Amino acid sequence: MSNMSKIAIASDHGGFELKNEIINYLKEKLYIYKDFGCFDSQPVDYPDYALKVGKAIVSNEYQLGILICGTGIGMSIAANKIKGIRAALCHDTFSARMAKEHNKSNILTMGGRVIGKGLAQEIVSVWLMAEFSRESRHIVRLQKVEDIYMNPVSN
Ligand code: RB5
Repeated sequence: MSNMSKIAIASDHGGFELKNEIINYLKEKLYIYKDFGCFDSQPVDYPDYALKVGKAIVSNEYQLGILICGTGIGMSIAANKIKGIRAALCHDTFSARMAKEHNKSNILTMGGRVIGKGLAQEIVSVWLMAEFSRESRHIVRLQKVEDIYMNPVSN
């Protein structure tokens, strides 16, 4: 990531504890971030938080996002409904690196009920450091993904 990149982070109640651990990590590493909630462990709806972070990124106020729910699945599904968002659910470091190098993901999602703090911090570290490869085959594939969005498949 570039030195100018800012990180938007959010969770629902299922990801609240892990989000706090990730925020500690971001602070320790001096990343610039904003916590978009939730701010306690009361039940909330994950799409509300996926939308907050997704909007922050498509507006380019923030360049990368981290979304954490119980499994990471709901956040991923919701965030990927937003045009311009490429959210990747990663629970291993290889996927985290590929999600940037091949898929140019701009949001990382994880499940607070799936992985522990140590692995999650490594995944975040790898994902933040990785860069899109810019190889033409990946550019072509990303354009095809974009084309699906622009020409919705009707029922
Ligand atoms: C909340 O119980 C849970 O459903 C949510 O955190 C998430 O895992 C959804 O995908």
